[in-house]
Order: sequence, then C-alpha cells, then structure tokens
Amino acid sequence: AGLFGAGLLLAACGKKEEPAPAAAPASAPAPVASAPAPAPAKVYVVGTDAAYAPFEFQNEKGEIVGFSIDLLQAVAAKGGFEVKFVNTPWEGIFNALQQGDRDLLISSITITDERKQTMDFSNPYFDAFQLIAVKATSKVAKFDDLKKLKVGVQTGTTGDEVVTKLQGKNSANVKRFESTPLALKELEAGGVDAVVADNGVIINYVTNNAGANFKTVSDSAFAPEQYGIAVKKGNAELLEKVNKGIAAIKADGSYDQVYAKTFGAAAPAAAASK
Ligand code: ARG
Repeated sequence: AGLFGAGLLLAACGKKEEPAPAAAPASAPAPVASAPAPAPAKVYVVGTDAAYAPFEFQNEKGEIVGFSIDLLQAVAAKGGFEVKFVNTPWEGIFNALQQGDRDLLISSITITDERKQTMDFSNPYFDAFQLIAVKATSKVAKFDDLKKLKVGVQTGTTGDEVVTKLQGKNSANVKRFESTPLALKELEAGGVDAVVADNGVIINYVTNNAGANFKTVSDSAFAPEQYGIAVKKGNAELLEKVNKGIAAIKADGSYDQVYAKTFGAAAPAAAASK
C-alpha cells in the first residue's frame, strides 16, 4: 500500500494526516526509480439512496453496493479522485448537495431540465425509461389504463412526475412512497394497482420476487431518460474530473465490465449513452 495506503488508514482512524515529507534526507542517496509521494487525493462524499437495486443498495453486510457504486469507483480511479458513499434518503438528497453535505450524487438520477436549474449534471452514463409493474392477473395494458387506478410511485421521482401528469395534480390515487421497494411491497399487498418506476429497478424486483406474481407493462409513450452524476451548481472543477472519468471508462472497456457485472451482458451501445 505504501505511503498512500498508510495515509488512508490514518484518515480512517480519524487521526490527522502527516504531510508527506518534501524530500528524502540529504544524506540518503537519490532514489533511482521512485516517484515523489503523490499528494493524498481528496475524498469526495457521495450521496446515494441505497434502496434501488441493482443500481445502489445495501448488501447483507450493510455495505453500499451496486452498478452505480462500481461505476463511480471506476470513474474516480480514472478521474484522479476518491469517493466515499453515504446512504442518503431520496427526499433529502438534492438538498444535501446544495447544502454542501455531499460533493456528488449518484442515485440513478434522471437528468431533467428542472433539476438542471439547481444542480449540474455529468454527461449521461445510463439510459432508462419508466416501466409499469402490475399483478400478473391485471388487465392494465398501457399507461393510459392507469388513469383511474391507484398507482404507487417514489416521491419526487420521474415516475411520480409522469403519473401525476396523467392523473392530475390533485388526484388522490397517486400513492407516494419514501422508496421504490416500499411502493412495490404495497403492490404485493394489494394496496395499489400498479407501480411506475425506472425499468431497471422494476425488472430487478420482478425477477427476484417471483412469488409476488408481477408482470411488467411497457409503453412507448414514456420519454427516454438518462442518468447523470450530480455536483453542486457551479462546481466545474469536480464536474470536469467526473466527465473525464466517464469518457475514459467508456473508451477503455471498463464501462462494459462494470455493466456486465450487474446486468450480465455487454453494454448495449444505447445503455452507455456513448
Ligand atoms: N430515475 C428516477 C429519477 O431520477 C428515479 C431515481 C430514484 N433513485 C433512487 N436511488 N431512489 O427521478
């Protein structure tokens, strides 16, 4: 691990880091091949709502894992920075960025014009769209069929947006949940007739909860969405590092590796938003 690893360890213990010595003692022979010790990289605090498998979630050990985590770690390695993930509920996540409590957000965040007014986004790293989950016996065949039904969404997501638009702002039939899994649990319990959320998360849930007896319904009326990594508005320096990292992992095949680890197949050209 060398100096670099030792520095990290100290930091983890909460001790103050010693600055790397500026030079070897005068008496020592000049080292031949060793580079000067690199300055310890800044560790950026990353907010993520880790209830969104397979993108960001907690494993049995409580560690935050998933596609987004692997992706940002690869991006950081190329961009020359370090990251530390902090589980951050979706409802407060944009505020945490704005307040400076988080330096970065990666949370399957769809880049929207509205959000762009209060934060800056990296270049897109993943393509997505809304998908409907219903019980296998449901007659729902298209989005419009949800007009008069009880629909579960995660508060403040693009799923919430489209359903609210369909049903009208004052509809009592839009059931808002703190997390997408909670909405899906409610569908299982029969409290809602459908859930609208990002395709990847719905598919993951349906695949891993065969007992729930769900099916998915897609509708070409849903606009294509793209995920971006968010920084505080105006943080051009960090944004630049992130974008460089994204470009580098797309160019050298690491994006495809990260993609395959979660989704099992090579990234379709479209998924990478190349
Ligand atoms: N892509 C959707 C949006 O940006 C949902 C993202 C929710 N992410 C999460 N980790 N809960 O609104």
